[in-house]
Amino acid sequence: HLCFLLSLLYYLKLLKLYLFKRSTDQQLRIKVVYDSSIDNLDPEKKELVKDKLFPRAIDYLQKAFQVRKHAGPILLGRQCATNLYLRKKDDPHRYCQGACAENSYCGPILVPKEHLQQCMVCADNGKYWGPRGQPDGVGILDADFVLYVSGITTERCGQENIVAYAAYCQLEDALDRPVAGYANLCPNMISTQTQEFIGMLSTVKHEIIHALGFSAGLFAFYHSDDGKPLTRRNANGLPPFNESLGLYQWSDKVVRSATRLWDISGNRRLRHDVYLLVTPHVVEEARKHFACPILEGMELENQGGMGTELNHWEKRLLENEAMTGSHTQNRVFSRITLAIMEDTGWYKANYSMAERLDWGRGMGCDFVMKSCKFWIDQQRQKNQKLVPYCDALRSTPLQLTCRQDQMAVAVCNLQKYSRSIPQEYQYFDSIPGVAARDLPYYGGSVEIADYCPFTQEFSWHHSGEFQRTSDCRIVENQPGPSRNYAAETYSPESICLHQRTPFVMEQCTRRIIYPDWGSGCYKISCSAQGLTVWVHGTRHLCSRAGQILNINIQMNHWVYTGSLVCPSCFDFCRACPPEHDPPPANASRSIPLDPCSSSAGLVVTLWLLIINVVPVLVGFLLCA
Ligand SMILES: *[C@@H]1O[C@H](CO)[C@@H](O)[C@H](O)[C@H]1NC(C)=O
Ligand SMILES: *[C@@H]1O[C@H](CO)[C@@H](O)[C@H](O)[C@H]1NC(C)=O
Ligand SMILES: *[C@@H]1O[C@H](CO)[C@@H](O)[C@H](O)[C@H]1NC(C)=O
Ligand SMILES: [Zn+2]
Repeated sequence: HLCFLLSLLYYLKLLKLYLFKRSTDQQLRIKVVYDSSIDNLDPEKKELVKDKLFPRAIDYLQKAFQVRKHAGPILLGRQCATNLYLRKKDDPHRYCQGACAENSYCGPILVPKEHLQQCMVCADNGKYWGPRGQPDGVGILDADFVLYVSGITTERCGQENIVAYAAYCQLEDALDRPVAGYANLCPNMISTQTQEFIGMLSTVKHEIIHALGFSAGLFAFYHSDDGKPLTRRNANGLPPFNESLGLYQWSDKVVRSATRLWDISGNRRLRHDVYLLVTPHVVEEARKHFACPILEGMELENQGGMGTELNHWEKRLLENEAMTGSHTQNRVFSRITLAIMEDTGWYKANYSMAERLDWGRGMGCDFVMKSCKFWIDQQRQKNQKLVPYCDALRSTPLQLTCRQDQMAVAVCNLQKYSRSIPQEYQYFDSIPGVAARDLPYYGGSVEIADYCPFTQEFSWHHSGEFQRTSDCRIVENQPGPSRNYAAETYSPESICLHQRTPFVMEQCTRRIIYPDWGSGCYKISCSAQGLTVWVHGTRHLCSRAGQILNINIQMNHWVYTGSLVCPSCFDFCRACPPEHDPPPANASRSIPLDPCSSSAGLVVTLWLLIINVVPVLVGFLLCA
């Protein structure tokens, strides 16, 4: 008998699943098995994980993907007592030398005995190949994928700011589709804050998508639509293993490298090497998304170290796509992510489950194939907005702006680093107020976005404690009356509006101007007349985009004066009248409210410089 030694560290566990020939696709069935560590979490966290996060994530993924039908239960192969895993030619079983381990794990999670196959051993100096010990367990019935979920503070949780990580741990034998995997949530990073629920939910979906197929360790196992491996197999049935990558080596039908001409500061141009995912549906979706017909594939993350790089989409290009490597804002699962799942050869994707991604949409080849420096310079020359990039330094006072979709207050994340950033990511020839010799220290705060600066939502912290986020639609973000410096309203009907001037709060003898200004959240409504902005019960009709609304209202014993810029009605309302100039100001309305109706006192302007509430940009890594 010929037998092969699987790699010591990166062995695969194989399992025979009988696929129905000419089988039809059916809805993916994911079975979640909770580890006892989940029951040991705080009751609030346990309830969040078991009753909300996983059921909702699984529901989404089951609707989004279909899979080929198979027969029989899922049974996991046992781990060996030693690190030697043996295979025989034309035999899907994996044998242990002498004996199996007492316990088998999927990631950090102990697999229940009833989910395990009988131990298969090679004994008596290779004379005996066969089963030994307890027979097969009952396995997992009526499921296509079993997900073991734990909440263990592992060593990896301690590194950086990792929320969770996940991986597959067993592939079936016919198409190499993962049939079992795990997700570990780092207990300290589970947030039960209402405002963070949507972020937590997309993290859970993100992790499960890794385990189902979007993992660099699986690229070499992808199949074509008609069930052929996209990477050639060795005699042992496996793709070649690349020791330096620590991964099975994919063919260029899956991932290819390319060199980009990369503009940096000082009119210099470097060569920047990238990895591109080049499977057919991904190429098609990426070309459509960016409106770049010559794009060769979708760029993979090149930074962040093992775990982040290659396992995610490039952050610079798909910023808030949920399968990029860190959480910044407003994550969406786009058609490009559904496309890679389809290109594994294991699933059919339901594209009506895709969410709209605005980042990079229709921005062309210069956006997707050049550095952000090139794009920013080009937009400046054309006298056009730098969106989605920006160049305002994040400093005090803060210059506030709106997120690209106008649903949250945001700031530009351009900041100073304590060390100079790598040369290939130095983009600035000048920044107002910054000496030329210091320019190499400046870049966007998200390293894995190739240090490109972009506008980002944030959260307010008070003495290190989370207070609220800047998402306009979340009621819990409403600042208390004594802190509502710009007469804002956070509600499901609110959007982010730009301010033309800072808001002034006045009482007879006091005057407050909050130093951080530029945008805020305000309620809007739509009617036959068009879009109306509401500021504390006062309505202001927008006749055209860019119109300035002068705000002068009384609220909580303060008179507020400020000005807001009208958004485009067409961006928010289903039906809009044609734009026209606003009617002349109504004289009876234009008399400002007097904060001192009785006495005329001395007015003291308080520039609120006690910044006890600090904005913090979110940017934790999802998996590392
Ligand atoms: C292994 O990966 C490295 C890094 O991508 C690459 O340079 C090398 O050519 C690969 N080796 C093989 C045998 O493909
Ligand atoms: C695809 O998704 C849509 C929208 O959620 C759903 O109504 C439909 O049933 C799904 N189609 C399949 C084949 O699952
Ligand atoms: C001016 O505003 C007052 C009160 O809102 C209203 O009664 C009046 O009709 C308005 N006049 C014009 C010319 O719009
Ligand atoms: Zn990830």
